[in-house]
Amino acid sequence: MSAFNREQVLSVRHWTDTLFSFTTTRDPGFRFQSGQFAMMGLEVDGRPLLRAYSMASAHYEESLEFFSIKVPDGPLTSRLQLIREGDTILVGRKATGTLIVDNLLPGSRLLLLSTGTGLAPFVSLIKDPEVYERYEDIILVHGCRQVAELAYGEQVVDNLKNDEIFGEMLEGKLVYYPTVTREPFRNRGRITDLISSAKLFDDIGQSPLSIDTDRIMMCGSPAMLEDLKNMFVGLGFDEGNHSEPGHFVIEKAFVER
Ligand code: A2P
Repeated sequence: MSAFNREQVLSVRHWTDTLFSFTTTRDPGFRFQSGQFAMMGLEVDGRPLLRAYSMASAHYEESLEFFSIKVPDGPLTSRLQLIREGDTILVGRKATGTLIVDNLLPGSRLLLLSTGTGLAPFVSLIKDPEVYERYEDIILVHGCRQVAELAYGEQVVDNLKNDEIFGEMLEGKLVYYPTVTREPFRNRGRITDLISSAKLFDDIGQSPLSIDTDRIMMCGSPAMLEDLKNMFVGLGFDEGNHSEPGHFVIEKAFVER
């Protein structure tokens, strides 16, 4: 049996010169938990060319969704950015990853901290009813250089809030906090600074960071992850994994593509 499934592209949307998202068919046997990733890519010269991609779709959805950067000379994304409806992509049969709720200790507020395409696993998580059962508050932070890079996340959150079924579940629970570093916007600054200064919590009108209540998932640029991790460890937070749950979990947003 092959290590991957062949899926058909159902829709493609380009958000900026460097970002796009797309949906595909989903093999009924492909299972994953919200927040996980799989190998995904194209057949190039008769061989699979795959990279790790988080599923942005919910675990219960019939189709799969991915959110990708476009690297002009990237072996995969220089080709992947050209896909159209009806094209075939490859998806590995096995999903994995640390950004799952079982890797966190019980808590009442979930902070989802992302930069760039690191948003993708959180798009899956915020569509999962179990997340709303486990946490009283879910704060989704997305940091980008430019306002245009926020568009995909803005639309996902808008659609969810206006959804007949989800709208009610999210109300008063999900706080979406986009922030931009290199041009004017209503929220400005790096996630690290917004947390260390407590500006994030002031802006959303919630209590400051606390190890008693807060559980954290982060996905994004390696530099951001390193700085956030150091900050949280300095405050006594422990990193969780499959063998031992902790206060926070980390996944790199994969950029060599
Ligand atoms: P900045 O514009 O100040 O570098 P990138 O596109 O380089 O992956 O960055 C995505 C976002 O992550 C940008 O807003 C960027 O801010 C921010 N960022 C980069 N490095 C760090 C870091 N070490 N800590 C916090 N945020 C960071």
